[in-house]
Amino acid sequence: MPDESAPEPSAPKGEPPGSDWAAYYRSTIGREPRPLFVKGMAAVEAAGLEPGQAIEIGFGDGRETLALLQTGWRVLAIDPAPAAAEVLHSQVPDHVAGRLEIRSMPAEDADLLPFDLLYAGYSLPFLGADAFDRFWSAVRDRLRPGGILIVNFFGPRDSWAGREGMRFIDVDEVRRLVNGLELLALDEEDQDGNSFLGPKHWHVFDVIAQQPHR
Ligand SMILES: C[S@@+](CC[C@H](N)C(=O)[O-])C[C@H]1O[C@@H](n2cnc3c(N)ncnc32)[C@H](O)[C@@H]1O
Repeated sequence: MPDESAPEPSAPKGEPPGSDWAAYYRSTIGREPRPLFVKGMAAVEAAGLEPGQAIEIGFGDGRETLALLQTGWRVLAIDPAPAAAEVLHSQVPDHVAGRLEIRSMPAEDADLLPFDLLYAGYSLPFLGADAFDRFWSAVRDRLRPGGILIVNFFGPRDSWAGREGMRFIDVDEVRRLVNGLELLALDEEDQDGNSFLGPKHWHVFDVIAQQPHR
């Protein structure tokens, strides 16, 4: 394990199944919002999308959900780890709490509300293939006209590729998943880096895509 008191600026970002998520959240709490989230919110602003209903999948320490609440969004925050809900609850200011719903359950089992924005950072690879297909079908069904997806996926050259219960997809599959949406950004990271558990190769696709207005 790396020295947690001096994490690399780019780490930690994601862990394989079976990780001690509570320890992970303790190491990430207080961090800056992820670069994908920052870029995605700039795209949301550029698109003129007003704060409405957002969903965050795998919110972890809650940093991005808190940022959404602070900018006026209603947020449905979904993460199966009970520790995530505890960490998020402890940070939510009273004046925004009425716009937050937390569900401690796997995303694939959640009944999604119609939504305008979905953010999922380093969480969708933790849905196995069947679970992901079910979840993504609900996402495409519930995304409102003009709504924006801000998500990432792990690629086949990631160090964790092949791990049971995780999903790794290539760029063709990424493009297939957003077929019919306007692809606002598709960035690929394919380089060695660090994680909470030590050095690894990151192969990550960052995606920002918008549902056409009718
Ligand atoms: C690597 S952490 C990322 C947390 C946070 N988004 C961040 O960037 O720090 C992955 C998160 O996905 C959550 N997760 C795992 N399986 C999930 C599932 N089936 N549905 C929703 N979230 C899941 C984990 O509990 C964990 O909080």
